[in-house]
Amino acid sequence: MTTPGMSAKPETFSEIDHPPRLLMGPGPINVHPRVLRAMSASVLGQFDPEFTTYMNQTMALYRQVFATANCWTFLIDGTSRAAIEAALVSTLEPGDDVVILNAGRFGLLLAEIAARCSARITLVEAPWGEVIDPGAVEEAVRRVRPRLVAAVHGDTSTTMAQPLEEIGAICRAHDALFYVDATATLAGMPVLTDAWGLDIVTAGLQKCLGGPSGSAPITISDRAADHIFARRHVERGLTVPGGGGGAGLRIGSNYFDLAMIMDYWSDKRLNHHTEAASMLYASRECARVALEEGLEARFARHTLAGRAVRAGVEAMGLEVYGDPAHRMTNVTGVIAPAGIDYDRVRGRMREDFEIEIGSAFGPLTGKIWRIGAMGVNARKHAVLTTLAALEAVLRGEGFGFASGAGVDAALAVYRDGAA
Ligand SMILES: Cc1ncc(COP(=O)(O)O)c(C=O)c1O
Repeated sequence: MTTPGMSAKPETFSEIDHPPRLLMGPGPINVHPRVLRAMSASVLGQFDPEFTTYMNQTMALYRQVFATANCWTFLIDGTSRAAIEAALVSTLEPGDDVVILNAGRFGLLLAEIAARCSARITLVEAPWGEVIDPGAVEEAVRRVRPRLVAAVHGDTSTTMAQPLEEIGAICRAHDALFYVDATATLAGMPVLTDAWGLDIVTAGLQKCLGGPSGSAPITISDRAADHIFARRHVERGLTVPGGGGGAGLRIGSNYFDLAMIMDYWSDKRLNHHTEAASMLYASRECARVALEEGLEARFARHTLAGRAVRAGVEAMGLEVYGDPAHRMTNVTGVIAPAGIDYDRVRGRMREDFEIEIGSAFGPLTGKIWRIGAMGVNARKHAVLTTLAALEAVLRGEGFGFASGAGVDAALAVYRDGAA
């Protein structure tokens, strides 16, 4: 007899066994083999001394990656958005003012999350494809006197990199905290947390750090931590006599309560969630790989790969999207030529060549492809293979240019860059 609702023969599908694909979009990208190996290490209990040693090592590694002395440097379990949400929900109380820099989809995501925190939002905006003038940020901060200023460093939706250097000082001068989403730039472009006066910075593994998505590194300055701890209200089942709570309003999320997560990552090891052990191994190995390469060398490798992508597509007669002075080095927006079937190009890249390039969002839907060269893929062979495939696909679609032009131009960048 079978249990009602259960079939006699279970449907188990096939084992996951797809061909390896070259991921040249805006993330995720191919995972470094060392990271994959680290993830297969056996799971340990979260209070096992060996595991808590790995946690402390991960904190020390990410201090170096974030270029910070911040004690509070750790991981949020979840994708990059989890850390963004943790940062905003733990700093913003209902009615708090927040100034948000918006020039793309991920600036709008900050506004969307801040609205869910019932904060009062002031947007400082630029059109997609441009960046925001720090003078406009200063004007808004002077006028609004916000609790928090929030910005995206590299907005992958537009491929633009927002200059941040001046904004940290503006925030300090007006006693505002400064949050930055560096998901798409950390370990690929300089993110100088302390030198630029950033209070909270969050990231993800699936871009320049060369890991899978699912763990989000975060760093928090002492002044931001003081504000967050003032809102500490430990879960009832965990409180001990004298544990006490902060005077501030309780943080409106349990999972993303940074005060409780910091207690868990501190020597107190106060239980919160069950740490995602395999993702911690991945994050730790991503940082080790990046630091062993050297951050400067890694930035230079991403810059060279980005230059080669741009030279290649321009030599094919295609146009690169956005303000040339502020392009991200690691993701390039390529304007789809008129008359080309945008989706079919991406489809043929995938079906004929096993290469993924990115589509676009919002006002750029159907208008630009996004080609990422990040992590292990910020390399000559990955860039040249992608350009060669794109040339073949575009030729097949009737877009005329000198055969081999793109690959030759990219090769020249690598020849000159290596000289
Ligand atoms: C700049 C930026 N912020 C945030 C995110 C959201 O990341 P996730 O999908 O890992 O939550 C992305 C993802 O592409 C991103 O590029």
